[in-house]
Amino acid sequence: MKKITIAANWKMYLDESGSIEFIDKLNSESDLFSNKDIILFPSHACIRSVKNHLKFDIKIGMQDCDIHENGAYTGSTSINAIDVASCIVGHSERRSIYKENNDVISEKLERTLSSDADPILCVGETLDEKNSQLTESILDSQLSVLPNELNGKKLTIAYEPVWAIGSGDVPSNEYINEMLSYIKSRLKSLYSGADLDNIKLFYGGSVDASNINELLDVELIDGFLIGSASANFEKFRDIVKQIKL
Ligand code: PGA
Repeated sequence: MKKITIAANWKMYLDESGSIEFIDKLNSESDLFSNKDIILFPSHACIRSVKNHLKFDIKIGMQDCDIHENGAYTGSTSINAIDVASCIVGHSERRSIYKENNDVISEKLERTLSSDADPILCVGETLDEKNSQLTESILDSQLSVLPNELNGKKLTIAYEPVWAIGSGDVPSNEYINEMLSYIKSRLKSLYSGADLDNIKLFYGGSVDASNINELLDVELIDGFLIGSASANFEKFRDIVKQIKL
C-alpha cells in the first residue's frame, strides 16, 4: 500500500499563538502523527515558531513564494527565506484574489524547482468552466507551465476544482478519478518513465473527516491538500486517524 500524504494548508486561519497551540496538541499525540506523511503549511510569519515548537519530525512548507529570489520586493517572501520541504504554487486563491496568471505561476514554479523545496502545483476548473465543458482545456493551460525536465526534483499536482474549495461540495470519486487520469495522461506525454516516479497526484477541496475514507478509494490519489479542516486540531486529528499508512 502506498503512503498517503496529508498536506495541511492553514491559509491565513491561524495566527502565531493559534499555530503554537496546534503544535502543542500535535506534540501531545505524537504517536498518531509521527509515522504519517504530513506537511504543514503555516502562514509565512509562523513557520519559525512552528519549527521551534515541533518535538518530532514533520515536514513544513510555504503556502506561496515570490517570483524573485531576493532583492527590493517589499512585503514579499523568497522561497529561500527559510528552509522548507515544499511550496504551494498556483493555488486558486492566488489565481483569483491576487490575479496570478500562468506567467507568474510559471516563474514561481521555476523558482521553487531551483530551490531545495518541492512544488505542489494546484490546478482545477471553476464551476462555469466545468458547466461549459472547458475542464480539460483549463487543465491543459494550467499544466502548460510545467518544465520539460524535472531533473530529479519531486513534483506534486494537486487537482482542486475551484467549486469544491471551501464549499462542502465534493466531486464523486468517479469524477476525481477521471480528472486525475486526464492529468496523468498529460504528464505521461510530457515526461519519461524516470520522471514519472517523482510525480504525485493530490486531491483538494472540502476534504474532511466525513469524506476522506471514501476518497481514499480513488486509486490515483497519492495525497490530499486540505484547507479549513486542517487548521482545526480536532478535525485534523480525525482525518489523520483514518489514514492507515
Ligand atoms: P478546503 O481548501 O479544504 O478548505 O476546501 C482546500 C484548499 O484550498 O487547498
